[in-house]
Amino acid sequence: MKKIVILISGRGSNMQAVVEACVNQKWPAQIAAVISNKTDASGLEYAASKGIQTAVVVSKEFSQREAFDAALQQKIDEFSPDIVVLAGFMRILTPAFVKHYAGRMLNIHPSLLPSFVGLATHRQALDAGVKLHGATVHFVTAELDHGPIVAQAAVPVHNDDTENSLAQRVLEQEHIIYPRAVRQFVEGKISIVGNIVRFND
Ligand code: GAR
Repeated sequence: MKKIVILISGRGSNMQAVVEACVNQKWPAQIAAVISNKTDASGLEYAASKGIQTAVVVSKEFSQREAFDAALQQKIDEFSPDIVVLAGFMRILTPAFVKHYAGRMLNIHPSLLPSFVGLATHRQALDAGVKLHGATVHFVTAELDHGPIVAQAAVPVHNDDTENSLAQRVLEQEHIIYPRAVRQFVEGKISIVGNIVRFND
């Protein structure tokens, strides 16, 4: 039984998609904990309602990024996870933290990487005039929104799209590709060769 720890900062709809898939599809895994850096992250209520352990390490109580990441790492490691899943966890991570979870920490980013790193990705896509946009699941490395790509989904950009309408279309795809990628990881079907993810069936 693999142990999954999920980190959130807000509503946690991707966390919810992973939890539901894990339970409904009977993965060889359990959600060991959902941890937030904000006390008011609404996703915490959903996790608790499913009987999942929750914890909060309040990022604004730390003036140093390294100190917060060290406290977070300590909390995460209490659950001995095989995989750490970032699901709308809105923090830039320190190199030491990333190194500690190298090869076992996934993130979902709302763009077709390597395009549109950072924040406001839907605004960036509209401003660039791209006709395809989407989401990417990738392993976390020290460089922000880089790292070996596990999965991507593309959606069309319509002439009358707003940031909200585009975000909604992308989010629907996130909820499909993220659980699938986490499942492939816990079933041991993913290996990383250099910067490339390979799938072994
Ligand atoms: C998702 O769209 C996710 O891709 C994005 O935040 C949203 C969280 O929604 N993540 C990032 O931008 C990370 N840089 P959720 O809390 O409902 O899963």
